[in-house]
Amino acid sequence: MVVSGHKNSMTFSRITGLGYYVPENIVTNNDLTQWMETSDEWIRERTGIQERRYFEYGKDTNSSMAAAASRQALDRAGITPNDVDVIVYATITPDYFFPGSAFLMQRELGMDGKAVIDVREQCSGFVYALSIADQFIKSGMYKTALVVGSEIQSSWIDKSTAGRNTAVIFGDGAGAAVVTATEDTQHCILSTHLHADGRFAEELYVKDPGSSRPDRPVTKELLESGGYNVYMNGNAVFKHAIVRFGEVINEALAANGYAAEDLDLLVPHQANIRISDYVRQQLGLSESQVINNLQRFGNTTAASIPIALAEAWENGKVKSGDLVCLAAFGSGFTWASALIRW
Ligand code: UT7
Repeated sequence: MVVSGHKNSMTFSRITGLGYYVPENIVTNNDLTQWMETSDEWIRERTGIQERRYFEYGKDTNSSMAAAASRQALDRAGITPNDVDVIVYATITPDYFFPGSAFLMQRELGMDGKAVIDVREQCSGFVYALSIADQFIKSGMYKTALVVGSEIQSSWIDKSTAGRNTAVIFGDGAGAAVVTATEDTQHCILSTHLHADGRFAEELYVKDPGSSRPDRPVTKELLESGGYNVYMNGNAVFKHAIVRFGEVINEALAANGYAAEDLDLLVPHQANIRISDYVRQQLGLSESQVINNLQRFGNTTAASIPIALAEAWENGKVKSGDLVCLAAFGSGFTWASALIRW
């Protein structure tokens, strides 16, 4: 049945601008040895990371870095903040306990009254946020979304030897994407797939400040109990990651009638070069088909995919018509993918 005046063509969404911001302060593996017992050799061999960025107190905040990345993405999309209908903002290291950092970035960009959504799906946060934006646009509710991932990890990681298995991998930074409505099915987000398994919530988590206790959630005893530090069962995370990455990428390809050989570019969450290499080999991709920049930025959680994608785009590695897959795995556990015809 054709309803008079009803829209016949489907609306899809498209990434029209990308941007990123990383703090100037470079912290090498050797620099870390001033705080903890570790070595450049151990970190390179186990993770591939050579250096990461740490924010500058008084200059960078989670939301100011996100705003810088967003301004670049908006410029490249050729639009202004007021053309945006909604901000979808992923972070696990917000400026405040509440409200979320999306509010602060909205204020900084002068977007009063526009909808904001804070997403907390850890390393999969950006892909979740992109999926939320994609659904809003496909439903017709919004035309333009600003999707952001931003993290300041360096202020709260445990830089003593006790925290070295997590401290060495994390870095600070922000990335952003402008997502706009399109009817062009040759250049759009084809699908997103999101997953989570809360049975593994405590395999990679920060327990405090939790609300489910009788007193105010910050006491001297609590501070000393270590619950404010990241706990990671690195081995369990690693084992699940290598399975879930492959699964969720293949799920995206199959849902759209493609196979791994059709893929032009994979932009994985930047967790560990060994995970990335394993996934690359599983899928039969060449080194140039997989974006890795964790050597220079470490693991920036929700920011890692938009930083890697923006950098790849800047370097001419993302070309019109390419089949591009974004894929993530992280705390929760969560895992997710987005397949894009660029
Ligand atoms: O982004 C979210 C997702 N996160 C990930 O995907 C991370 C996945 N996991 C990993 O990448 C790895 O588990 C790590 C690279 C984090 C750790 O590697 P691992 O081989 O699993 O190390 P481990 O924690 O099992 O520790 C092995 C040894 C231990 O020494 P002993 O007990 O064997 O003597 C650790 O104390 O390595 C030691 N170690 C270190 N030594 C030097 C742990 N961290 C360090 C360090 N420097 N930074």
